[in-house]
Amino acid sequence: MSKFYPFLVLVFSLLLLAGCEYDTEEDLFPNSKCDTENVSYLSDILPILELNCIVCHSQSVAEAGIVLEGYDNLKFWVDNGRVQGSIKHEVGFSPMPPLGYELSDCEVNKILSWIELGAPEN
Ligand code: HEC
Repeated sequence: MSKFYPFLVLVFSLLLLAGCEYDTEEDLFPNSKCDTENVSYLSDILPILELNCIVCHSQSVAEAGIVLEGYDNLKFWVDNGRVQGSIKHEVGFSPMPPLGYELSDCEVNKILSWIELGAPEN
């Protein structure tokens, strides 16, 4: 048994290292980190958009003619389904945000659950 001990320690260390490598906090604690109940436009959705979208979709920049700044403008692009398609990276939509970075699963789920509630101005 004692002969195998160093080997076991090595295997366990490797498993621990491999286990830690790709885990994000969200993977490990999905429920404690991501509250998709009663999502609010002002306190949940707006901050996500301001961080990830408004730089290109403000009134003044309006990439591709799309303005997501202001509730009414955002609602227009929600009602026609383009926001959902683009953040879910569905076929036939331009994936958003572009340039190789993505919203986290939590951010996407918050937006989708807010839209399911009818995208209220809450
Ligand atoms: C770096 C600039 C940039 C950022 C950041 C950005 N967009 Fe865009 N967005 C664009 C451009 C450019 C287009 C037009 C691209 C195209 O049609 O291929 C576009 C298109 C879209 C469309 C139309 C997609 C379609 O297929 O009809 C939607 C909806 C959209 N963006 C929403 C968002 C949302 C929501 C975010 C944030 C999560 C975001 N964008 C972040 C530049 C950006």
